[in-house]
Amino acid sequence: MKTKHILAALAAAFIVNTASAQDGAVDFEKQILPILKTSCFKCHEKEHEDNGKIKKPKGGLRLDGAAVIMKGGKENPNENVVAGKPESSWLLKTMALPESDELAMPPEGKGDRVSAADQALIKKWIASGASFGAWKGVE
Ligand code: HEC
Repeated sequence: MKTKHILAALAAAFIVNTASAQDGAVDFEKQILPILKTSCFKCHEKEHEDNGKIKKPKGGLRLDGAAVIMKGGKENPNENVVAGKPESSWLLKTMALPESDELAMPPEGKGDRVSAADQALIKKWIASGASFGAWKGVE
């Protein structure tokens, strides 16, 4: 009886997993946010004090909230994330540049590069409409 239950649970979990994989939805908070936290937050968070120093978001760009992600930075306002257009989205374009490029993000030697797999995930998220779900982040 017990084994049967476990098998039923596994089968259910499998169905749920394949269903969400087919549906193709990328969950911003679960799948994209951790990438930005690891590679970008250090320089692109709301102005705050750190060890007595005021830290401003670099390039005027914040990545810690849904509204500010869409607002973008100084050079490319409203083009940080262009829903449906990964090729126009600077968030993705800058991380895809070779490390030696002066526009590459994170800047050379200044943080963890975003892996090809994670870039593909971000591309898919933008292409499918760049939804943040219920996530608002820091306002
Ligand atoms: C060590 C600090 C640092 C990290 C980490 C970092 N950036 Fe930046 N970022 C900067 C600086 C400095 C600028 C502004 C000057 C420049 O363009 O080089 C900038 C500018 C940008 C811009 C241009 C904004 C505009 O419109 O002017 C984008 C887009 C960007 N960063 C995305 C990212 C992404 C995405 C990540 C993570 C993968 C990231 N950055 C990680 C320092 C950083």
